[in-house]
Amino acid sequence: MLPKLLITGATGFLGFHILQAAQTHWHVVGAYHRASRRRAQRFFGEIDNGRIDLGDFSETKAMMAAVRPAAVIHTAAITDLDYCEQYPHESLAINLKSAVHLAGLCGDRDIPFVFTSTDLVFDGAKAPYGEADPVTPINVYGEHKALAEEGILADNADAVICRLPLLIGYAGLGRETFFQKMITAFRAGQEITLFGDGIRTPVSGAVAAQGLLQVVGSGFEDDVNVAEIERVVGLLHLGGRDVISLYELGLLILQLLGLDDRLAIPISLSDAPPGQNDRSFLAARSANVALDSSRAYELGYDPPSLRTQIAKLLNLDC
Ligand SMILES: NC(=O)c1ccc[n+]([C@@H]2O[C@H](COP(=O)([O-])OP(=O)(O)OC[C@H]3O[C@@H](n4cnc5c(N)ncnc54)[C@H](OP(=O)(O)O)[C@@H]3O)[C@@H](O)[C@H]2O)c1
Repeated sequence: MLPKLLITGATGFLGFHILQAAQTHWHVVGAYHRASRRRAQRFFGEIDNGRIDLGDFSETKAMMAAVRPAAVIHTAAITDLDYCEQYPHESLAINLKSAVHLAGLCGDRDIPFVFTSTDLVFDGAKAPYGEADPVTPINVYGEHKALAEEGILADNADAVICRLPLLIGYAGLGRETFFQKMITAFRAGQEITLFGDGIRTPVSGAVAAQGLLQVVGSGFEDDVNVAEIERVVGLLHLGGRDVISLYELGLLILQLLGLDDRLAIPISLSDAPPGQNDRSFLAARSANVALDSSRAYELGYDPPSLRTQIAKLLNLDC
């Protein structure tokens, strides 16, 4: 019998990709929140799943007792930066408190718990960032993720905190991704403004999912062996190998699509200061949050080049 893997946030962008990739080695159970059960079941197919508000601790505890997972990957979160800025109490409840609570429950059961954190725990002033660098969040989302990391490791020293970079690809269910919007606009001949000073180490959702599954199940071996492996614990960066600005990312996509590179218009983060004009955001944006992921690479995480990942997403032979 396959071991049970609980994926929270299964209807989200990353959850969907983990769910796709996990089924060979795991009996997958997906938890989600607002998506209707019917819609989720159409999306999940035969996979067990459950609707839950992770903000309700008794519901979470009951779910863990009912599912009895062998491991948990926690991707559920409120991920809209501006929404978190506007509704910090909601962000606090989900991005911080529920994550720490779930990590504690996994610690009690001595099962692997993988938390999906973000490069946005850093302010962007001193990239590239390694695991040992101190966190310096500049918005509510980043602050609650950073506090969650601290709370999780204080409660469950065997937890893994995977800091993820910008993820690209197509959403299975739920809102359209930044990448999807960019492709749609470019294909329609529409110009897009992109930050020339917003620098990241992106990977596709599928590559991130693979990295997380390596971490949770196999100690970077091919098979799943939760009981016997020497677990990876603590902080781990799962960034890509390419350090690239959002503007350069747009150019790369245009080049691969064979479209006019003038459709990507470079702008600066200083052109859109938080809360000051129509084009601005509520939450401050970090500039260069490139991750140094050499620890993960040494362990066996091996993201292909960004060009290869994008070509695969676009179904191109390159
Ligand atoms: N996407 C990126 O570029 C990126 C980059 C760095 C880190 N990350 C991290 O990766 C993780 C996944 O991100 P994502 O982009 O896949 O997020 P997403 O698409 O916004 O999905 C969020 C998921 O969380 C669920 N959720 C939200 N509130 C919940 C609640 N109260 N109870 C239970 N489930 C709840 C949602 O369920 P419903 O849809 O059913 O409400 C959805 O399945 C997050 O931890 C994020 O911080 C993402």
